[in-house]
Amino acid sequence: MAKSEDILKKIISHAKEYGFVFPSSEIYDGLSAVYDYGQYGVELKNNIKDYWWRSMVQHHENIVGIDSAIFMHPTIWKASGHVDAFNDPMIDNKDSKKRYRADVLIEDQIVKIEGKIKKEVDKARKRFGDSFDEEKYLSENPRVLGYNEKIEGIKNRLYPAMDGNDLEAIRQLIIDLDIADPVSGSKNWTDVRQFNLMFSTRIGSLSETSNEIFLRPETAQGIFVNFLNVQKTARMKIPFGIAQIGKAFRNEIVARQFIFRMREFEQMEMQFFVRPGEELKWFEYWKEERMKWHLSMGIPAGKYRFHDHDKLAHYANAASDIEFDFPFGFKELEGIHSRTDFDLAAHEQYSGKKLQYFDPELNESYVPFVVETSLGLDRTFLSVLSHAYTEEKLEDGSERVVMHFSPVLAPIKATILPLIKKDGLPEKALQIFDTLKFDYMCQYDEKDSIGRRYRRQDAIGTPYCITVDHQTQEDNTVTIRERDSMKQDRIGIDKIRTVIDERLKTDP
Ligand code: GAP
Repeated sequence: MAKSEDILKKIISHAKEYGFVFPSSEIYDGLSAVYDYGQYGVELKNNIKDYWWRSMVQHHENIVGIDSAIFMHPTIWKASGHVDAFNDPMIDNKDSKKRYRADVLIEDQIVKIEGKIKKEVDKARKRFGDSFDEEKYLSENPRVLGYNEKIEGIKNRLYPAMDGNDLEAIRQLIIDLDIADPVSGSKNWTDVRQFNLMFSTRIGSLSETSNEIFLRPETAQGIFVNFLNVQKTARMKIPFGIAQIGKAFRNEIVARQFIFRMREFEQMEMQFFVRPGEELKWFEYWKEERMKWHLSMGIPAGKYRFHDHDKLAHYANAASDIEFDFPFGFKELEGIHSRTDFDLAAHEQYSGKKLQYFDPELNESYVPFVVETSLGLDRTFLSVLSHAYTEEKLEDGSERVVMHFSPVLAPIKATILPLIKKDGLPEKALQIFDTLKFDYMCQYDEKDSIGRRYRRQDAIGTPYCITVDHQTQEDNTVTIRERDSMKQDRIGIDKIRTVIDERLKTDP
């Protein structure tokens, strides 16, 4: 088994064993690509939401938040283009009966060729040592040039075929590239078909009068249709933003990689309304701001990278992803899109209502342009979880699994432990718990040996364990154990708050 798959499996099993993430409906054998968050998962998720909300809404005088409904008027999805164009091309393998996204099968080939280029570069670097000039090598080496030509050739066929909805051309590309089913190795493919990703249901109680509506596939449209409500009631002046956190639903063809691609997930989106012509400046601004936000969570910069889009969606004039190095490689975490006036103009057209802003400085009305930042909450959760997961060998030869969460995100900030379950120690520990519980998410734990209790807290990433022993009763001191260093200090009970606050100071 590949090492990365191995790590992902360990993270999935740890997430289940310690109450972070459970497969949904597990006692009925689960529901594909749907997950439930457990007692620690929900705390971590809420902390991530809060961290994002504070950085977006609380820290910006020109950004406000909303919470729009999941059900929306069906015409909204016609106007947004989702009814006609929110499709993925799918292909089935006739032998394995597995279904794939046809474009992803082709893009995986590009990634393979890019891997070959990287290998060539690594080899050359070793050979030439300090004198190696990577840029020159990439632009002159015949093998690298050949690989790049191949990539360009694939893109030049794939992108027009996708844009033109030419499903036969996509299939032909799969055949010409000799792509085999990654599971079975078979090349026995069906035709490529389009598959709309929106879930639908019916609103109204009587079947004759009920109407088909959709579960929203993104939270953004709830912001667009409330643009004027918010602008007027909050008296916002351009440039300004509207933020929202909420559920979105997509009937993904291939749902895999744990909570990376789910059918029910959460987004944290912000639409920033700007003057037409100024959108690219704001696009660059938000790209940098969003990267800074990710880095502020204490994960090293090398785990993130930008991926600027060559192929733009019909509504965008610039787009970039922030990718994260998940256990299965670099993949999209957040999208930053310059969406032009596409959405507001479309809603004007379909609703017949004006969605314009009167700009007092220019003395004119216009449909604002929009720069969007769109982050998957569950993917952020997975990035934080997978980075935090660490297996450590200790000096005494024993092992521990520890979640090195940034303290601000840790589900539990401190756990209070009586050394033994008698002599009045539990009562004292509970007293401390009662004084801290209003400010921090704390736990009280008296079960098992102290060593096992420490391990349990390491496994859920609690930054501090506070142990009450016999000396506590004499001088009102406790030991405070720090998760990462496992160092224990003796401090007065009145100092606990200062120690915890110091570690929680990290702010978005
Ligand atoms: N409003 C723009 C929009 O929805 P997107 O790139 O389709 O853009 C934005 O989605 C983010 O939502 C992605 O970067 C990803 O983090 C998250 N996301 C999208 N589909 C997802 C899925 N099936 N499961 C989990 N997260 C998903």
